[in-house]
Amino acid sequence: MSLNLNAIVSTTVGLTLALTISIAAPNHAHASAFSDADKAVEYRQQSLQLIRQNFAYMAGMVRGEIDFDGDMFEQRAIALQHLSHVPWDGFKYAGENHRGDGDALPAVWDNWDDFESRAKQLQDDAKALAEAAASHQLSDVRNQFMATARNCQQCHDNYRD
Ligand code: HEC
Repeated sequence: MSLNLNAIVSTTVGLTLALTISIAAPNHAHASAFSDADKAVEYRQQSLQLIRQNFAYMAGMVRGEIDFDGDMFEQRAIALQHLSHVPWDGFKYAGENHRGDGDALPAVWDNWDDFESRAKQLQDDAKALAEAAASHQLSDVRNQFMATARNCQQCHDNYRD
């Protein structure tokens, strides 16, 4: 990508070689989750870990392993709602070649529309969970929590190694 940019910049604008190099170097140094396979894997795995941390805490309360705290549950549900938007760009710009060392199956990119609609479903579920959690009652969140959990499970069954 930086090579193409160099070619365009140097041929169309006629910049000096020195300037071309100074443009190219930061480009390379700034390999990002949106241009580099390894960083894309890191980005999506780290955001999924944050999702897991919030989710596991709520799971502990739903299962009765942690005393139910309505305020804390709502905070975790709101965090999940925000985080549910984050990982997917780490798959999107990647393409098949950006599988890297991650655990995502090639099926993700072969069935991109289905994958994306499951991601969207998680966002909808997380939003509904955060809304249900506003009452601070365990009885109001239990069903929606289970629906959200099934979502994680079903996507992993199809798309995670
Ligand atoms: C739309 C599909 C999809 C949904 C929904 C989904 N995941 Fe995942 N998840 C994946 C894929 C694919 C991977 C493998 C990512 C990789 O290694 O590149 C993954 C990996 C993970 C990982 C491992 C990250 C790591 O460090 O390697 C955790 C933890 C995780 N998911 C938790 C969850 C939880 C919790 C939910 C539900 C709240 C969830 N996921 C919902 C597709 C999904």
